[in-house]
Amino acid sequence: MAGDRKVELGEALALGPGWRHACHALLYAPDPRKLFGRIPLRFAVLMQMRFDGRLGFPGGFVDAQDSTLEDGLNRELREELGEAVSVFRVERSDYRSSHLAARPRVVAHFYAKRLTLEQLQAVEARAPQAKDHGLEVLGLVRVPLYILRDGEGGLPAFLDNAFIGAAREQLLEALQDLELLDPGTIAKLKIPASK
Ligand code: APR
Ligand code: MG
Repeated sequence: MAGDRKVELGEALALGPGWRHACHALLYAPDPRKLFGRIPLRFAVLMQMRFDGRLGFPGGFVDAQDSTLEDGLNRELREELGEAVSVFRVERSDYRSSHLAARPRVVAHFYAKRLTLEQLQAVEARAPQAKDHGLEVLGLVRVPLYILRDGEGGLPAFLDNAFIGAAREQLLEALQDLELLDPGTIAKLKIPASK
């Protein structure tokens, strides 16, 4: 939720056993194409429609069987996205932030991983064969990174959807910090500078 507190990874890892850890990842790839032949797509950025009707990122709870956060994340990615994820691994170097939610006590770690467009398209193509497809994952979506002439269509309208947990904030920070948006779009969105 928007009121969740952001914490450093060290503080998050020192939380007691009363806290469950979850990890989610934004997968993205450069996409050189233009919508309608004139609007640059810039990047393909993946999110998913979740079982609860909210948009979020693939990933989930880290279990006792996982020896590291990233082992849990990569296992969840395989369950939710299928076999095409096995050609890459999301690593600690892809880590971006952690958010605490009080009820229930969950600390959500967020990662972003740059793929080639071919790798990302393979993820999309194989996702309907994933174990969780049609159950916890209702489908993948790409995030529109442009603003249409009416000033609402594209990213502003996308951001009006319902998001799970910190997903909306994670998305906006990643789009800004990884320079996935052009400066004109950032200016029109009036995104506050990330902390
Ligand atoms: N930011 C912050 N918190 C998030 C985010 C996010 N972007 N995405 C999910 N969460 C929270 C969820 O609200 C949930 O509490 O992290 C927790 C785990 O994430 P999920 O992806 O929902 O978990 P997953 O292991 O994939 O599967 C859902 O959880 O409650 C059970 O029975 C339910 O089996 C289901 C499972
Ligand atoms: Mg999940």
